[in-house]
Amino acid sequence: MQKFISLAQIDEVVNVVKKKISIQPVIGMILGSGLNGLADSIQKPVHISYSDLPNFPTSTVHGHVGRFVIGELEGKPVIVMQGRIHYYEGYTMGEVTLPVRVMHRLGVQSLFVTNAAGGVNADFAPGDVMLITDQLNLMGMSGLNPLMGPNLDEIGPRFPDMSQPYDRDYCDMTRKVAKENKLTLRAGIYAGLSGPSFESPADLRFLRLAGVDAVGMSTVPEVIVARHGGIRVLGLSGISNKANLDGSTITTHEEVIEAGRVITPKIETIVRGVLRGM
Ligand code: HPA
Repeated sequence: MQKFISLAQIDEVVNVVKKKISIQPVIGMILGSGLNGLADSIQKPVHISYSDLPNFPTSTVHGHVGRFVIGELEGKPVIVMQGRIHYYEGYTMGEVTLPVRVMHRLGVQSLFVTNAAGGVNADFAPGDVMLITDQLNLMGMSGLNPLMGPNLDEIGPRFPDMSQPYDRDYCDMTRKVAKENKLTLRAGIYAGLSGPSFESPADLRFLRLAGVDAVGMSTVPEVIVARHGGIRVLGLSGISNKANLDGSTITTHEEVIEAGRVITPKIETIVRGVLRGM
């Protein structure tokens, strides 16, 4: 396991990927738990398993496939992570965010991230889709910022701005697409925790007091690394379960995957609509 990833290690991966593809992807996508069905509708797909890439972590979670799919969606050249890497799997932050570094070096300028999340906002219900408007970096606040270690000056500055982690134009486009398709779209703040245990009632009360709308175990590190390289980000959370602030029900991974079946078509509609408008 490597603590920090160097530019040479990133480019080793990039060179292997480049040899296998004939298009230049400009849009990257990361598909969350139970939401990876969208990758199956990529046209002219080239599949590259994470296990065939040097320096690359492999995804170990049930419900995650673990490969890149490169091809076209709505006529746009895309590189899709079918299955993401989570910090709780035991990888370093450098490894968790290596795929975003690789996307950046391949020429990706926009990143669509999706995740499954627990609804902390009392108005949210399982099956809802939330546009992420901002994020709470709880992992980073406790010392797990993916940009720790030597700065990759060729990619971005030592102290990158984070005033707009989620691109405002993409947010506007998403709202418009949702409206056109008569989809109810929630909007709010996503908090990233390391997991893998779900939150206790006290954790959830704390998050609600902090103004959090949805909570999950991913996304925040990838978005920080994307912004470090100037990639514009669109984020969508599929609300898979309701936060239980009084401890009267339990949360399971199975319900997270199950909710994905309802959420996937909604996210697909939004992603396709935004892509068409780009
Ligand atoms: N908490 C954290 N991560 C999650 C949840 C949750 O309730 N649901 C899906 N991912």
